[in-house]
Amino acid sequence: MAWGVWTFTLCLVFWISSATQSTKSVYPRLRLSHKELWELNRTWVFQAGEGRLQQYTMLLDETQERLIIGGKDVLYSLNLERITAPHKRIVWSSSQEQVEDCLMQGREKPECANYIKLVQHYNSTHLLACGTGAFSPVCAYIRVSRGAEQEREFRLESDHIESGRGRVPFHPNSPLASTVYRGELFVGLYTDYWENDAALYRLGNHSFIRTEVGDRQQLNEPKFVGSAVIPDNDDPADDKVYYFFTERVADVEGGNKAVYTRVARVCANDQGGQRMLVNRWSSFLKTRLICSVAGPNGIDTHFDELEDVFVLRKKDEKNPEIFGLFSTTSAVFKGYAVCMYNMDDIRAAFNGPFAHRERTDHHWKVYDGKVPYPRPGSCASKINGGHFSSSKEYSDEVLRFARSHPLMFQAVQPVHRRPILLDTEGGRKLTQLAVDRVEAEDGHYNVLFIGTDNSVVLKMITIYNKEADTVEEVLLEELQVFKVPVPITEILISTKRQQLYVGSELGVTQIRVHQCGLYGSACADCCLARDPYCAWDGFTCSRYYPAGLYTKRRFRRQDVRHGNAVQQCNGLQLSEEQSISEKLVYGVENNSTLLECRPRSLQASVTWYIEHGLDMEEVKSDDRMIQTPHGLLLLRIMKSDAGVYVCQSTEHGFIQTLLRVTLEVLEEGKVEALLHKPEEEDSDLPHRAAPPCSFPSLPSTSSKLWYKDFMQLIGYSNFQRVEQYCEKVWCVADRKRKKLKGMTPKWRLTAGGEQRARARAPRHTPGQ
Ligand SMILES: *[C@@H]1O[C@H](CO)[C@@H](O)[C@H](O)[C@H]1NC(C)=O
Ligand SMILES: *[C@@H]1O[C@H](CO)[C@@H](O)[C@H](O)[C@H]1NC(C)=O
Ligand SMILES: *[C@@H]1O[C@H](CO)[C@@H](O)[C@H](O)[C@H]1NC(C)=O
Ligand SMILES: *[C@@H]1O[C@H](CO)[C@@H](O)[C@H](O)[C@H]1NC(C)=O
Ligand SMILES: *[C@@H]1O[C@H](CO)[C@@H](O)[C@H](O)[C@H]1NC(C)=O
Repeated sequence: MAWGVWTFTLCLVFWISSATQSTKSVYPRLRLSHKELWELNRTWVFQAGEGRLQQYTMLLDETQERLIIGGKDVLYSLNLERITAPHKRIVWSSSQEQVEDCLMQGREKPECANYIKLVQHYNSTHLLACGTGAFSPVCAYIRVSRGAEQEREFRLESDHIESGRGRVPFHPNSPLASTVYRGELFVGLYTDYWENDAALYRLGNHSFIRTEVGDRQQLNEPKFVGSAVIPDNDDPADDKVYYFFTERVADVEGGNKAVYTRVARVCANDQGGQRMLVNRWSSFLKTRLICSVAGPNGIDTHFDELEDVFVLRKKDEKNPEIFGLFSTTSAVFKGYAVCMYNMDDIRAAFNGPFAHRERTDHHWKVYDGKVPYPRPGSCASKINGGHFSSSKEYSDEVLRFARSHPLMFQAVQPVHRRPILLDTEGGRKLTQLAVDRVEAEDGHYNVLFIGTDNSVVLKMITIYNKEADTVEEVLLEELQVFKVPVPITEILISTKRQQLYVGSELGVTQIRVHQCGLYGSACADCCLARDPYCAWDGFTCSRYYPAGLYTKRRFRRQDVRHGNAVQQCNGLQLSEEQSISEKLVYGVENNSTLLECRPRSLQASVTWYIEHGLDMEEVKSDDRMIQTPHGLLLLRIMKSDAGVYVCQSTEHGFIQTLLRVTLEVLEEGKVEALLHKPEEEDSDLPHRAAPPCSFPSLPSTSSKLWYKDFMQLIGYSNFQRVEQYCEKVWCVADRKRKKLKGMTPKWRLTAGGEQRARARAPRHTPGQ
C-alpha cells in the first residue's frame, strides 16, 4: 500500500515536472546570501521589539511615502526610501481590564493583546486601523501627513475609538481580506468570538450589508486570502468588489469535503433588498478558480489551496491580471503552482450560466430555466438600462433567484489553461507572491517575487512559447532576505521605488528588485542573465529603460526571451579587466589538489581542457580526475599531470573561458623534507631563505575552513599538517610570485586547493 502510494507520488512528481513544463532552471542565475545582500548595500532590515511583529499587517502608502506596519499593540510608520531611518510609532494596547477579561475567558496570555490586523487608507488625512483588542475588536483613525520627519503626523485619534466588530476578527490568527472603497470597508472575516460566522461585510457610514448568516451555499468554512475593487466599465455604479478565498465543498454524498479556491464578487453599491435580503447582498456570486495540470489519463492534478493572490494593476484599470499562488491539498504529494487569470475570463464565468441543483444531495447542473431581469449579479447602474436606482427596487423574483443561485456553473481557467510556474521539488513551502510588470527590449514581462518558508525570495520570469504551448521558467535570483530561516509572511512591491518590502516575524526587509552589475560587467554575462530589468549599455550591465523614457536612446543589448549572447554580444571586445584570469597551483606528487573554477552563474556548466601546445584536449573524468561543483579534483597527482588547464563555461549555448590554471607538480619527498625540517635549505625551491611568512593573502577564513573540510572529505584528517603544508607551499609560491611579478600582473598564485575568486567579480557562494 505505502509502496504503491509512493510510486504513484514519484511518478506524479516526475510526470508533472517533466511533461508539462518544457524548460526550467533548478538553479538561480545568482544566489545571494543575506550577508552578501548586506555587503552589497542592497538590503536594509527593520527590527521591532520582541514579539511585536507576530501576525502583522503592512500597508504601502506611496503618497505619504511611508510603510505602515500594524503589529502587536503597536503601529509603525517607516520611511519608504530607507526603512531603517528614524521612524514614528504608536503604542495602542488593550486596557488592563480588557486583558483581564480575556484571560478570564480562558485565553492564553499572548492572545490577549491588541493585534492590529487591518490598516487601510481611509481618506486624504486619515488611515483606518483595527485590532483584535484582546478578543474585543476595536477600530480607530490615524492622522497622517507628509513633510519633514519631525513635523510629520502619525497620531491615533484616541477619543474616537470604535467597536471593530464585523471589521476585524477576534482571534489574532483568523484570516482577513479587506479593502476600502469610497470610505466604506469591504471585508471578508469571521465576525464572532467562536469563529462560526464567516461573512463578507461592507461597513458604510451608517449602514452595513453582509452575506446571509449560516448560509453554507454562500460561504462554507472559508479562508479569506485577498480582495480588490475592479471597475467593469466607465460607470462607477458598476464597480465590483472581488474576493479570493478557499472554502470546503461537500461531494454529493455529503462527505469527503474537498477544498476549492473561489473568486466571489459583489456590486460596490449593493443596497440589499427592500422586503427580502434586507442588509444582505443581492449581487453576491461566486465561482471556482482552476489551477491544474492535465494528466496522462485525462485526470488533472489540481492545485486547490490558494496561498496568496496578487492583483497586478495596469494602465487599463478594468483589466488587471490576477496571479494566484496555489498548493495542493493532497496528502500524498506537495507541490505549488502559480496561475494567472485575466478579467475577460473571470467576467465570462460570471456572465455565463448559473449552477443549479434540486437538492443538496444532487449534482450541480447548468441552470437552463428563465433568468429574471435584471440578471442577478448585475448592479443598479446606467449601463444596465438605468431602470433601477438601487437594488432595493429589484423584484422579489430577482432577489429570490439571487439567494438560491450564488454559484456559477463555469469555473475560471487560467491563461494558457496551465500554471505559469510549477514547484514540485518539495522541501520548501511557497508562501507569498508579488508581481512587477517590466518593459524590456522584446516586450513586457511579469517578474514574480515568491516568498518561501525559509527566508528566500525567488525572482523569476516565465516565458510562454506559443508554438510549442510550453512555459519556460527562468529563475533569475534567489535572495536570502533574512539572516536565519523564517517564513515570509508578506511581500509588498513599490514599482515607483523599485523596492520590495518583505515581512517575517523577525522584521521587515527592504530590498532593491535589481542589481544589474552583479551579473558581471561583460555583455555576455548581462545578456545571459535574461533579467528584463537589466541590459548591457556598452560599458556595464545596468538598469534597462525603454526608449523614449530618458532623452536619447542609448546603445543597449538585451535578449530576455532567448538570452542569445552569441548574437547580442558577438564581436564585442573584452576589455582589459575582463580578460581571462590565470593562476598557478602547486600539487604534490601522489597527493591531491583542486583546480578551483566556479562560474558566477549557477546555470552554467563547466568543461575542463588541458593545453597541448596549441591544441586543447577535453579532460575526461576518471578515477583520478573528478569534476566537482567547486572545480577539477586531481587525486594522486603524477608528474605528467603538470600543464595548463583551461576552465570553460557553457551557458545557453554561449561558451567562455573563465580561467587558465598552470599546475606544477612537486616531488613528494621535497615537500616532506620541507615540512619536517623547515630550516633546511632546499635548492630546488627558490628563495627559501627568507624569514617565516604568514598566511595573509588567502581570501577569507571561510574558504580556508572549507578547504580543510574538503581535505577531510577526501581523507586527510591531520588538519594541523594540512595547514602547515599550505603555509609552506604558499610561502614558496609567494616568493615565486615576487620573482614572476614582472611577467604578468594578472597571475594569481594559490597554495594547494586554496582558491582565489576570478579577478572580474565577486564570488557567490551557495548556501551561506
Ligand atoms: C556600501 O555602502 C557603504 C557606506 O555607504 C560604502 O562604504 C560601501 O562601499 C558600499 N558597498 C558597496 C558594495 O557598494
Ligand atoms: C477623514 O476621516 C476622519 C475620520 O472619520 C475625519 O475626522 C476627517 O475629517 C476626514 N478627513 C477628510 C479630509 O474628510
Ligand atoms: C461615506 O462617507 C464618505 C465621507 O466620509 C463619503 O465620501 C462617501 O461617499 C460616503 N459613502 C456613502 C456610501 O455614503
Ligand atoms: C607514488 O606512489 C606509488 C605507488 O603508490 C609509488 O610507487 C611511488 O614511488 C610514489 N612516488 C613518490 C614520488 O613517492
Ligand atoms: C599529502 O599531503 C599531506 C600534507 O602534506 C600529507 O600529510 C600526506 O601524507 C600526503 N599524502 C600523500 C599520499 O603523499
